[in-house]
Amino acid sequence: MEKFYDIYKSKVKSIPEVLKMIKSNDLFITALGGSEPMDILKELHKIRENGVKGCVLTNCLPMGDYEFIKNPEYKDTIFVDGWFYSPSLRKAHKNANVSHIPQHLHSALTKKLFATDGRRKVLLATASPMDNHGYLSLSLGCTYEKQLINDEALVIVEVNPYLPRTFGDTTININQVDAIVEVSYQVPALPNVPFTEKDAIIGQYIAELVEDGATIQLGIGGIPNAVAEALKSKKHLGIHTEMFTDGMVDLIECGAVDNSKKTLYPEKSVATFALGTRRLYDFLDDNPSVLFKNGMWTNDSYVIGQNYKMTSINTTLEVDLFGQCASEAIGHVQFSGTGGQADTAIGAQLSEEGKSIIALYSTADIKNEQGEKVKVSKIVPMMKPGAIVSLSRNDVDYVVTEYGVAWLRGRAIRERVERLINIAHPDFRDEIRFEAKKNGIW
Ligand code: COA
Repeated sequence: MEKFYDIYKSKVKSIPEVLKMIKSNDLFITALGGSEPMDILKELHKIRENGVKGCVLTNCLPMGDYEFIKNPEYKDTIFVDGWFYSPSLRKAHKNANVSHIPQHLHSALTKKLFATDGRRKVLLATASPMDNHGYLSLSLGCTYEKQLINDEALVIVEVNPYLPRTFGDTTININQVDAIVEVSYQVPALPNVPFTEKDAIIGQYIAELVEDGATIQLGIGGIPNAVAEALKSKKHLGIHTEMFTDGMVDLIECGAVDNSKKTLYPEKSVATFALGTRRLYDFLDDNPSVLFKNGMWTNDSYVIGQNYKMTSINTTLEVDLFGQCASEAIGHVQFSGTGGQADTAIGAQLSEEGKSIIALYSTADIKNEQGEKVKVSKIVPMMKPGAIVSLSRNDVDYVVTEYGVAWLRGRAIRERVERLINIAHPDFRDEIRFEAKKNGIW
């Protein structure tokens, strides 16, 4: 232990010391979501004072609104390429110092697809404190972080006692770390949003589709939390998911999830990252029943498909009558990212008895050009020009709104049109049918 502790101590640095390790044109990759190293990122723009310029920072689902993101003055020091937008990136995109990388989660940062352009890779991550054997845990996830460590990036980690110690590909050895900044702040949380009546109805429809013994994946957004509530009456569910959530803790604690029928890693809940409340982080701490694996593996559709009765449940912003799902953008304006939507939807359909479910409200309240609130249908005859499709019409399976379920897999367009109109809001059904006829959508 003493030997490991000496190595650990030799790597501890202050933030200004760490910033001096950065060179012009470096490529930073920051750990995802709750694993973001917030104290370092708050100071990162100060590399400009050291004469550093031309760096690129790639992130996914950033939690903080840092100076280099919100202040376009730092564009020449650090340009941000995000592959899953959250509020700070949505805001900053307008300043032209942030751009989006379209990609599936399973291929994010793979050697083949990750364009480093000869830049030095610098991983900025977080870890829970070192154990007696010289190991730290990347804690809330290893979507790409461990892979970058194996790929010889410069590794800078904040060690934070508030981070849970988790197992799987999150484990790293002290010798794999180049610099440590000791910090102590509460881990960023994603608060639980209370369910609406509509969420509960959609949750019930989905619960009817999920069979006992199924292995589930729940996506990001308000509806999946309501689905978790509705699944509490199920038996022998398993978890193989990209994101591990508070709703999953509820399902484990009430006994609906026991992972007993899983065909891939039985008895373990498998995930690639976790994001939620402190309760979730406490549940994960030192919990060997949750296995964190690299996102390249967890989200590989062929891996997902090895789970019997794999059922993926995700949400979308808009569906057209062909079944195309625009889940990450409003028109051409980036809202989030593809993440694992296509990975998990395709994977579930590769699984024996598998199902992929896409849920959405039938309408959205949006502001029109005059700034007035208007109701629009989220089921539309056609996407607008420039709209971005996250899940193709070839990969869609079940679509669910508060008006019911439309099963589209293998169905001709003429049947898709009828089924989708039946789950659209009644106020819009005639208009959608009229547009379908006018445009020959059948
Ligand atoms: N037209 C215009 N605006 C729309 C809209 C539409 N058809 N549908 C929704 N919106 C607006 C909402 O009004 C809301 O606006 P607000 O932020 O001003 O309130 C905003 O878009 C978000 O909609 P909401 O339904 O609240 O989204 P959410 O937070 O539940 O997230 C997704 C839903 C689709 C964005 C999210 O699930 C996602 O990013 N999916 C892609 C990635 C994925 O599925 N990964 C899977 C594994 S985690």
